[in-house]
Amino acid sequence: MTIQGFPLSKQEISKVLAKFWQGLYAILKSGKEKSYVNNSKRKFIQLRCLEKQLGEEIKMDHLMIETRQLTKVYGEQTVVSKVNLHVQKGRIYGLLGRNGAGKTTIMKMILGLTSITSGEAFVFGQNIKGNEKRIYPRIGAIIETPGFYPNLTGTENLEIFAKLRGTSKPNAVKEALGVVGLPYKDKKIFSKYSLGMKQRLGIANAILHDPELLILDEPTNGLDPIGISEVRNFIRDLCVERGKTILLSSHILSEISLLADDIGIIHNGVLLEENSLAELQKKNGKYILLQVSDTAKAALVLERRFHVKEYSVQDDHTLRLYETALDMAEINKTLMLENISVTSSQLCNDTLEDYFKKVTGGEGIA
Ligand SMILES: Nc1ncnc2c1ncn2[C@@H]1O[C@H](COP(=O)(O)OP(=O)(O)OP(=O)(O)O)[C@@H](O)[C@H]1O
Ligand SMILES: [Mg+2]
Repeated sequence: MTIQGFPLSKQEISKVLAKFWQGLYAILKSGKEKSYVNNSKRKFIQLRCLEKQLGEEIKMDHLMIETRQLTKVYGEQTVVSKVNLHVQKGRIYGLLGRNGAGKTTIMKMILGLTSITSGEAFVFGQNIKGNEKRIYPRIGAIIETPGFYPNLTGTENLEIFAKLRGTSKPNAVKEALGVVGLPYKDKKIFSKYSLGMKQRLGIANAILHDPELLILDEPTNGLDPIGISEVRNFIRDLCVERGKTILLSSHILSEISLLADDIGIIHNGVLLEENSLAELQKKNGKYILLQVSDTAKAALVLERRFHVKEYSVQDDHTLRLYETALDMAEINKTLMLENISVTSSQLCNDTLEDYFKKVTGGEGIA
């Protein structure tokens, strides 16, 4: 596969980039950096963009769910609008949004439980349209409370579902109950279950056939704090120990930030942001905001002289440094000596909540 506009494979481009950086550092070491940096400033930025694009392309190869311009209209109301979701293999993706944001509708469209007005959904790299029989047996989901028989026990209920689904593994029910921490062959009937037990049985039902992908709509909804933490733990185990990919939703920011690897913020049907939790925390933890005359040149100096790796370029004049223990006086001095003027450097500390308030236009989440 080639990157758009480049007739080379990803591996070849990686090699070229590695050589370029080596060459650049060699030139910098030899003291000719001023003219070189000036001449290659544009190239530097282009290559950084290309590297980013390369990373994105590699990520795309590992997508378990991808939606393209996914849209749902009910009557006059567009409840999901042009959503491009990217759920990567082996990760937990948390869809975060207030009540009515469109979380359940997105999941329903992916699962074929409601029609797609426009756009497309791909699961395991295949368009769901026309591939339903191949795709859906590989997914486990809870969208609404599953219809269990009230007068049967949890074990009896799951045994029926296992038979209906043709689950071949003999111990499937026992194992699924074990994962969610419910007793096997317990005498309690479903109608006597607490909400937490019902939620657990729902998840046990979703994992009965050992699916690769789980879609869980508000799996901790209505649970008490201990129940939430237990459910959170076994969802994480399903991902880490059993390699499942999980798409889940919640309207509680703290909940999602304790569980998800990647977060999509949905607001009034629009996906406002999609990023890894690590990136979001980076954006919002402590950082030094540096205003300089030339970010490309400053970035080179920071990398070369101070071995700074954790930074991001915001625009031509703004950099964020996430290594906050750096000696700023020394950095300022060195940048000045390199003819880079520093107009300000300040320590910032935003919380995730501040950030979500900002992206949702002040309304925030939970
Ligand atoms: N069958 C339907 N007919 C008309 N409107 C609907 C239908 N289902 C959902 N909606 C509307 O679509 C919007 C999104 O609903 P959705 O259930 O997807 O939100 P949500 O993010 O899951 O909310 P919650 O956190 O309350 O579960 C809401 O305004 C809802 O009223
Ligand atoms: Mg919902």
